[in-house]
Amino acid sequence: MKTSWKSRDVSSKFDKYNDMLENILGFNFLFDIIKIDKSINTILDYGCGPGKVSARLTALNPEYNIIAVDESEKMLSIAKSKRNHPGISYQLISNDSLLFLNDNYIDCAIICFVIINNSDKNRIQKIINEIHRVLKPNGKLLILDSNPNAIGIDFTTFRNGDLGVCYENGSCKKQYLKINGEQNLILNDYYWTRELYEDILCNAGFELQKIIEPKISDIPIDELRSFESKYNFSQWCNEDAQAPFIIFQSTKRKEQEK
Ligand SMILES: C[S@@+](CC[C@H](N)C(=O)[O-])C[C@H]1O[C@@H](n2cnc3c(N)ncnc32)[C@H](O)[C@@H]1O
Repeated sequence: MKTSWKSRDVSSKFDKYNDMLENILGFNFLFDIIKIDKSINTILDYGCGPGKVSARLTALNPEYNIIAVDESEKMLSIAKSKRNHPGISYQLISNDSLLFLNDNYIDCAIICFVIINNSDKNRIQKIINEIHRVLKPNGKLLILDSNPNAIGIDFTTFRNGDLGVCYENGSCKKQYLKINGEQNLILNDYYWTRELYEDILCNAGFELQKIIEPKISDIPIDELRSFESKYNFSQWCNEDAQAPFIIFQSTKRKEQEK
């Protein structure tokens, strides 16, 4: 059974989840890529959920123009009430369509923990094709997801799938998010191999530039100390040596390179 992102319970529990690891080992790596490219101003946050990533982007640069889209009204209502900002425009979408956006309009798109929510390869291809359409030539697409190579590993804040289960493309996979003082939030996600992401990007007309699998031990020590003090946490678990997440950094090829 698919996770019901449109339900109030799932949306509000997801908002309570402490996304410390996602921030340190995921979003922060995306932000490093985004902030060095001074041509980036308009950013699409596809599947923005409760708006935590969009809000962090505005903290990085209040001049960014962020278009944050989601198919869940409940998620968008949390985002609008808790993370409203003049630089963020929240939009409800349906059928994976971004028709309100012109072709070649966006400088950069991010899609964080969304592909794993979708059970159908053709649907995922449609989402990536639509992002490709609205991106400018040479525009960046950054995909962040749970690492398909970290199945069953217990990380400090979550576990992705069950050890010993053999997952194939499209298999249902549970994601166990630990919520302080409450029962785990169990998400019914789907397993996709790294090769599937590569194929989908290539089919849409993207050039894959880099795959990044960050671990705590990769973080420069000063930066790590500053995260540890921000989160008041330093007892790193398996994330010290194993990468919980995977990032695909790609650009939209110019027309003649297709
Ligand atoms: C796990 S949450 C991630 C939220 C946010 N990106 C983050 O990293 O905090 C996944 C979100 O993607 C949205 N989503 C999943 N599939 C979608 C689709 N096909 N179109 C639009 N939104 C989608 C869900 O409604 C949910 O809000």
